[in-house]
Amino acid sequence: TTNHLRHVESMASLPSGAGKISHLNAVILGEALASEENDFVFPSDDFSRQALIPSPHKYLEMYKRSIEDPAGFWSGIASSQFYWKQKWGDQVCSENLDVRKGDIKIEWFKGGITNICYNCLDRNIDAGLADKIALYWESNEPGFDAHLTYSQLLHRVCQLANYLKSIGVRKGDAVIVYLPMLMELPITMLACARIGAVHSVYILLPHKIVEKLDCKPKVVITCNAVRRGPKTINLKDIVDAALVESAKNGISIDVCLTYENQSALKRESTKWQEGRDVWWEDVVPKYPTTCDVEWVDAEDPLFLLYTSGSTGKPKGVLHTTGGYMVYTATTFKYAFDYKESDVYWCTADCGWITGHSYVTYGPMLNGATVVVYEGAPNYPDSGRCWDIVDKYKVTIFYTAPTLVRSLMRDGDEASCISNLVYTLKYPVQNYVTRYSRKSLRVLGSVGEPINPSAWRWFFNVVGGSRCPISDTWWQTETGGFMITPLPGAWPQKPGSATFPFFGVQPVIVDEKGTEIDGECSGYLCVKGSWPGAFRTLYGDHERYETTYFRPFPGYYFTGDGCSRDKDGYHWLTGRVDDVINVSGHRIGTAEVESALVSHPQCAEAAVVGVEHEVIKWSVASVKGQGIYAFVTLVEGVPYSEELRKSLILTVRNQIGAFAAPDKIHWAPGLPKTRSGKIMRRILRKIASRQLDELGDISTLAEPGVVDQLIALADS
Ligand code: WTA
Repeated sequence: TTNHLRHVESMASLPSGAGKISHLNAVILGEALASEENDFVFPSDDFSRQALIPSPHKYLEMYKRSIEDPAGFWSGIASSQFYWKQKWGDQVCSENLDVRKGDIKIEWFKGGITNICYNCLDRNIDAGLADKIALYWESNEPGFDAHLTYSQLLHRVCQLANYLKSIGVRKGDAVIVYLPMLMELPITMLACARIGAVHSVYILLPHKIVEKLDCKPKVVITCNAVRRGPKTINLKDIVDAALVESAKNGISIDVCLTYENQSALKRESTKWQEGRDVWWEDVVPKYPTTCDVEWVDAEDPLFLLYTSGSTGKPKGVLHTTGGYMVYTATTFKYAFDYKESDVYWCTADCGWITGHSYVTYGPMLNGATVVVYEGAPNYPDSGRCWDIVDKYKVTIFYTAPTLVRSLMRDGDEASCISNLVYTLKYPVQNYVTRYSRKSLRVLGSVGEPINPSAWRWFFNVVGGSRCPISDTWWQTETGGFMITPLPGAWPQKPGSATFPFFGVQPVIVDEKGTEIDGECSGYLCVKGSWPGAFRTLYGDHERYETTYFRPFPGYYFTGDGCSRDKDGYHWLTGRVDDVINVSGHRIGTAEVESALVSHPQCAEAAVVGVEHEVIKWSVASVKGQGIYAFVTLVEGVPYSEELRKSLILTVRNQIGAFAAPDKIHWAPGLPKTRSGKIMRRILRKIASRQLDELGDISTLAEPGVVDQLIALADS
């Protein structure tokens, strides 16, 4: 058995009733216990009773089977829950994950013939879901919405698929997609999949695309504009500029199919290039509402998704069809305890992996009802998310810690349970509790470690202390969830992603690549393969091997640090390159951030390490690296020297003197990508005052924050 299995076996004997009430009470009352990670939050009996995985024992039984017989485990799921035109060959999985034994290769269900769009739509319709709502669409402007049933969605997908075929898009061709969160985005992804085309969805400003168009696309699908909060963003202008640039690199796009998002911008005010640009509404609805499926091999590519590496040009992560299908559907089902009656809302944009796996494919494969929201989560005010939850009776709400923290900052009376200072000082704004939210039953978090104080606010205030939180750790590369709580199965620890999903064997290794056991921390790797794993970096298999399989031969290296506590719970500590080493103490930036954010007046914090040579403003030069903290304060709190001291003291008290920040840099905002990820690369440059090396900042949601930060550097 694996190390993990042993941990789980000992966990399974955890007392489930004893201590339950007192733990839960402690959590609800927000008592700051000395050691947070010892603090269990138990699922209610009512929840566990109805859960797909109701106990650690059940988890253990399935987990064991998935590790001891991965081929049997996954092929059982694949054949019973999906449609295959033809079954795969003798081998369910073939893999070589060891560079010492030749090229890295991962294949699942090779020879199996299927289609993921067919499995999302036709199969569910045949099973009686024709009239079930597939998509609810909520506009940025309250009051404007739309919806499609599964059969209506199939019609729309077929019309677009037929149109794409008519302009010559064939199996294996790449299609560039630059669309906001309109129903047309999942429609486009599914239409591409239906005809075997490879979609490549972008969230970034596409003038950066041009460097990466090694997939030789002929078609771009976009829309004229989008509304986000009070702003209108003209996407077509951005695409036009990108296409001018790509033409210079010899890439010419034949067709730019443009959806007219009327609520944002009228047709007449959109710049147009005759011969290339085509209005979606003028052509697509004229095509038939049925379209034959292009049957593909399980290992045929499904999509390419570019993600940034720590250096060099962005990496084109390639996912294939069969394994990804089985994996996203299965992880969605178990990690959210999915039931047919659920209404599911994931706030992620389809331009990043979360939107691929858990807006479109995972939920649709399960026949779920999915909410798609076009706009900004705090527009017209910070209650919008809960307004949407009540409107559609959302039962599963999946979001990112950054959103949780920003909504927490905007306040709610209930958040004051643990925060008396805040209550007395600032006016109560019940953005959350003015809504019922009683439909909610499962919450989810993704993208970065969720600090315990944000976890508690999410759990206590948003979820009414009723809803388990699935803190899902995974990556663009992994295709689907890797380490995640299964709601109802486990007692949770706020801030821990808990245990691996079925079939996943996480290992923690030291610098030399030796697996370490028991309570430990180190580099997070994965042993063996799982169906959702990416197969290569497009056009650069060498880089794939070098980045992920050479650092620790025999393992997939995640790039993340992780520790495992005495109960076997996993705690992600952030990217390894975000680890700071101060006087020999290894400190995850996330740990320091979490301590800072627990301060009642701190809304958000981002911590980076700086080399001691550049720390002219501190005595930290003996420490090797210094800790540099960017801090955003709660709305309305003024900067002060006193507050600076009190923030540093908080970190000292919670982690230790060695972790005390050397510098607090006031930050009205932090540089984030549109998916909400903090761009630490930029913060590191600001921290070390390498201001001429900031690099490309055009992919930031709000590039203006960089100038603000520079202005405040020495205040
Ligand atoms: C981080 C997003 C802690 C991690 C799905 C990973 C997390 C990177 C979590 C991948 C989580 C994601 N807890 N850290 N629940 N989820 N991360 O490719 O550092 O955009 O390596 O995929 O995000 O980011 P990516």
